[in-house]
Amino acid sequence: MTIAPTDLLDLLSLMRAAFAEGLRHRPAVAAEAARVLADLPDGSVPLRLAEPLRPSRHPVLSQLPGAARAAGAPWESALLPLAGRLPWRFGYAPRPDAPDLGERMAWAEIVGPAAPLRSDRVGFGLTFIGRDTVYPPHRHPAVELYAVVSGTAVWTLEGADTRRRPGDFVLHAADAVHAMRTTDEPLLAIYSWTGDILSPSVYT
Ligand SMILES: [Fe+2]
Repeated sequence: MTIAPTDLLDLLSLMRAAFAEGLRHRPAVAAEAARVLADLPDGSVPLRLAEPLRPSRHPVLSQLPGAARAAGAPWESALLPLAGRLPWRFGYAPRPDAPDLGERMAWAEIVGPAAPLRSDRVGFGLTFIGRDTVYPPHRHPAVELYAVVSGTAVWTLEGADTRRRPGDFVLHAADAVHAMRTTDEPLLAIYSWTGDILSPSVYT
């Protein structure tokens, strides 16, 4: 195992700071943000990677520079040099009505059961959804908290649509059905999972 590189720890630190804004939101969001932050590595001990970071050529990377610029200088400098070495992936089986969805969106888990920084208690990473993309309704037993970093999306939660913007936090209770739809700009968001973080997300 190798020592976690400084640039990964810098990105994790920026993500932690952005997520900590959730502590000032409504009580349910603040409680979940506190739970996640308590379980994340805080950099007080040297962190080791479970496996080395490897180059990624995921197609969404082409839209990431614009999204990072829109998020501001700290994101641009922390994310862009590292983005091509993050573990971007897409975990759903292909579906006929969205055959290229796996090329239009991806997530990169930084901390989690199969992430570079291992945790059995929390998942913590970035979700990126390219422009003009529908992420169909899905659910999972993990409790999920999103913090929107860049871009906007129409978020459907248990049947209600809301346009979400940078700085917004969205809490999904266990097994709540949710979906997102972007239009003319991609969405970059931080997500966390707690509770049953091993069971996968499934379409509904
Ligand atoms: Fe989700």
